[in-house]
Amino acid sequence: MQQIDGYTRLCGLIGNPVEHTMSPMIHNTLARKEGRNLVYVPFHVEHGQVQKAVEGAYALNVLGLNVTVPYKGEVIGCLTDTDAMAGRIGAVNTLVRTDGGYKGYNTDMMGLYRALCSEEIRLEGEEIILLGAGGAARAVAFLCASKKAARVYLLNRTLDKAKQVAEEVNCAYAYECVIPMQMEAYATIPSDKKYLAIQATSVGLYPNVEEAVITDSAFYEKIHTGFDLIYKPAETKFMALVREKGGQAFHGLKMLLYQGVIAYELWNDTEVSEEDALAVYGKMKAEMGIRD
Ligand code: ATR
Repeated sequence: MQQIDGYTRLCGLIGNPVEHTMSPMIHNTLARKEGRNLVYVPFHVEHGQVQKAVEGAYALNVLGLNVTVPYKGEVIGCLTDTDAMAGRIGAVNTLVRTDGGYKGYNTDMMGLYRALCSEEIRLEGEEIILLGAGGAARAVAFLCASKKAARVYLLNRTLDKAKQVAEEVNCAYAYECVIPMQMEAYATIPSDKKYLAIQATSVGLYPNVEEAVITDSAFYEKIHTGFDLIYKPAETKFMALVREKGGQAFHGLKMLLYQGVIAYELWNDTEVSEEDALAVYGKMKAEMGIRD
């Protein structure tokens, strides 16, 4: 156990619920590895108390906070500054202490990008199929456009939501990047090339491990790489279907790792070595019972 003294800095997580988070393990492991006098704790914040929580944290000299469900949007109103990308997405998961208040970032998307890079998956110039148009998928669509993806076929059960996301992203980045589509219309995506598919719906999440948003094997013939934002289970039905047709598939645990690593780097103005990041990843996999 680390020594806590008068110099110990505090970081934490606000959300509701926060009890099942892996973030304390990520940050406390990194702090111990680096010999940094910092502790990270979860704070269960009741509805209607976010502003007070953020103000209180600032008054208590808290170095930084993560923000999780359901406060990633609401917290923006409590900040003195917001990173441009996070502002566009409308979701902040990391608060960094600055003079006068906290600045908000979206390290979920920065983390996804770093996870993709670590697997040598590119967004730049790519043709991408994005499944979903909820909060997570919306953020991914912004990330893809910010990296100048050639095209994003945005497939969703509710077409109107896909249309709305497409309009917002295309307007923000001033090119026709995102094409909204009804989920069932996947057969109309040109079959003369293969795609990166990012699975950003909640379908397939534990305990519904036998479900995938598209089950037709013909769809998976179009996919060279599948990336599922879900990490529980470690092989989703979507991933299994991608692999069955010869594609490579990844779960979302590295995204969770790197969103934490990037938050830690922002708070401490440092760069975490890949060796330390992968040591944390090993602990996360052990916690999840993942062996690969
Ligand atoms: P998150 O914040 O995780 O993105 P969300 O905003 O509730 O969660 O979005 C959930 C996504 O999963 C949406 O794209 C949703 O589709 P709809 O917009 O049509 O609701 C998708 N989703 C959830 N359950 C689904 C199901 N049974 N079949 C198809 N899509 C589903």
